[in-house]
Amino acid sequence: MDLLEAIRRRKTTNTPFAPTPVRDEHKRLLIEAAARAPSHFNSQPWRFILIEDRARIERIADLAGAAMKALMEDGRFVARYRRYFRFDPQSALHTGSGIYFDRIPAPLRPLVQLVFSEQVGPLLSRLGAATILANDQRNIVRSAPLLLAITLDKQEYQPGELSGLYAVITLGAVIQTLWLVTTALEMGMQFISVILESPPHAAQLVELLGVPEDQALVAIFRMGYRDPNAPRNTIDWTSNQRKPFHELVHYNAWGTPAPQTLRDAPSLLWQDAALPEQP
Ligand SMILES: Cc1cc2nc3c(=O)[nH]c(=O)nc-3n(C[C@H](O)[C@H](O)[C@H](O)COP(=O)(O)O)c2cc1C
Repeated sequence: MDLLEAIRRRKTTNTPFAPTPVRDEHKRLLIEAAARAPSHFNSQPWRFILIEDRARIERIADLAGAAMKALMEDGRFVARYRRYFRFDPQSALHTGSGIYFDRIPAPLRPLVQLVFSEQVGPLLSRLGAATILANDQRNIVRSAPLLLAITLDKQEYQPGELSGLYAVITLGAVIQTLWLVTTALEMGMQFISVILESPPHAAQLVELLGVPEDQALVAIFRMGYRDPNAPRNTIDWTSNQRKPFHELVHYNAWGTPAPQTLRDAPSLLWQDAALPEQP
């Protein structure tokens, strides 16, 4: 697969993976490719934990489910993220951002209007949304043949310090490389951020993975070969939409739009390929 094809096809896989174990040479390729990422002074501050042990994956799946339930029940999840929620295709297209919930069980749909009220977290929980999301999280993590955790060396990753910013920048390069390589290998990848967003569950994960004091656990993903027939989650979303070129770009200085010739230049990314399906 060429690079542009991988960039076109890269997306979050939020469906279960095929149960097939990931081949050793693919795991090796993923890590070796990720390690080609640029890092400040070639410091390579990242380390990777590949997790294939079933019992451990089950424990992590339970942690993901429990974290989701806790964050939903006290309203934290909705309060933190509602500004990214889109419930109709028009607002997804209009903003060109956020995640569009295109799959919501019928009993929860009338509540959508309430998402922006303070009461919605507890209300959604009472109606079972916390349990549905927790079960979906647990099942989807459990379905993965491989989890990958990334740590950063705390000597480099010091929030507020320049090296802390640089560590985060190189982490992004690592993650995008992993994502493009999984795409090229017909694999998929998904963040499981919910555990790290809930301090007590994050602490249990650190312990379960034996992360030492001098390392910060900064990300964890589920990975596997894509299964085109996999069922969707009970509550699910898509996020194919992107902001248009002219909205993203300033020319020479902030506030000056790109010249018309540049705005009208043909798209090499999409010229021979269909745009992803829009919300
Ligand atoms: C730091 C970070 C954390 C994320 N956490 C999650 C997550 O916990 N679960 C999830 O499904 N997607 C997560 N995502 C993926 C984004 O939702 C996704 O990249 C975005 O909606 C665009 O969709 P796409 O990846 O399919 O292009 C995360 C992305 C980033 C960069």
